[in-house]
Amino acid sequence: MEPVRVERFFLGCLAHASYMVGSENVAAVIDPQRDVDIYLEAAAARGWKIEHIIETHVHADFVSGHRELAERTGARIYLGADSGAQFPHLAVSDGDEIHFGQCSLQILQTPGHTIESICIAMRDRGLPERPAIVFTGDTLFVGDVGRPDLSPNHTPQQLAAALYRSLHEKLLTLPDDTEIYPAHGAGSLCGRNMSSESSSTIGKQRQSNYALLAKTSEEFIHLLTDNLSAAPEYFAKEVDLNRKGASSLSRLPALTPLSAEDALRLQEMGAVVVDTRPVTQFAAAHVPGSIHIALTGQYASWAARILGLGTTLILVGEDLEQVRESQLRLARVGIETVVGYLEDGIAGWVRSGNTLDSIPQVAAKDLEELLQQMPEQITVLDVRESAEAETGSIESPIHIPLGKLLSRTEKLDPEKLVVVYCRSGYRSSIATSLLRRVGFRKIANLIGGFDAWKAAGLPSAIPTGVGV
Ligand SMILES: [Fe+2]
Repeated sequence: MEPVRVERFFLGCLAHASYMVGSENVAAVIDPQRDVDIYLEAAAARGWKIEHIIETHVHADFVSGHRELAERTGARIYLGADSGAQFPHLAVSDGDEIHFGQCSLQILQTPGHTIESICIAMRDRGLPERPAIVFTGDTLFVGDVGRPDLSPNHTPQQLAAALYRSLHEKLLTLPDDTEIYPAHGAGSLCGRNMSSESSSTIGKQRQSNYALLAKTSEEFIHLLTDNLSAAPEYFAKEVDLNRKGASSLSRLPALTPLSAEDALRLQEMGAVVVDTRPVTQFAAAHVPGSIHIALTGQYASWAARILGLGTTLILVGEDLEQVRESQLRLARVGIETVVGYLEDGIAGWVRSGNTLDSIPQVAAKDLEELLQQMPEQITVLDVRESAEAETGSIESPIHIPLGKLLSRTEKLDPEKLVVVYCRSGYRSSIATSLLRRVGFRKIANLIGGFDAWKAAGLPSAIPTGVGV
């Protein structure tokens, strides 16, 4: 008898984990990503038929592939009660079980992150001594818990109180050796302090997770709701899309190659050029007015936060393969407004006689010298999140998290050189492109970010108060 198998699928771009559980030719998929071929291919390779699709909640940060996967497999979709889902599904509640082969999946209703959130406790009936696994969705992460501010019908305090009960009355009653498999990892916008570890156990989280160390419900509610940064605006649209069930990805429009002239004309009509190349390439030469979001990082999340879901986009990539990958990643968060890509990239732009823009990059040692030589002429801008900035920073920066930058530019003096930094140089490059677009000419990006600053042995200050 084969043990129940669990496969994890992780999308670094969205810090999203989905799972497929298989036993005796049948499989269940939990929280599928939008492009579902990976599950169909993996299931076919193992001889599994996907019969169950479980959404731990209606997701706000990515478009789920549940509807397409159901259409292509005939599988049933399961969601917690009161999800508002508008497609055929089975609403499950506490204690409901799904059985196939040796696998038993038991539903735990765990409202808090959202009102319909569920967790799924898995047991291998052929191996009763094997520790249980619990798929925790966005209720419990490694090192964090889900944010409680995504419901228009409940206050964050109400949801945080529900989450406290769900954690303490459901998840923490499980044995300490129960493994937890959450729906997100480090960098996800569904929490704020997630670890980069992919799994943990109930026992380890009980001892180390800051949110589980809160001694009372009141303390927990404060921890979760004080200084909670606003959820990205696109989250509400994503929830609507997932309640309806997204259309199949095969209906994405074909990508059109655009000449420089066409791109310019579309730019004048309001289209935004998104440059997906690595930082150094963008910095050296790019289409004036373009926004830089490198494909190497959490590209889709940042694109949705900065551009929203409805902006007409023109992509610039290193090659066609990268442009196609960009289009797919954007579709995973519901951005389907890419009209085309710049044919032959920057080379095509230059051949047409158009001007280029560039953004200076400054090394950590050079920035330190500049700060000593002419401190009054430089603004150091920290675009990391508050929690990161609180752990250490360059001396006396202005702190504006990247997601709020465009609403706070009045804090910056356009006559001074604004040197932008983040942890590694990814977000700061996005920030430099946004500042340039709104008219800042004197800007530079710190190469390698605060990591490079520390690696160069330069002094780190602990800020007394970080702006939010
Ligand atoms: Fe979520």
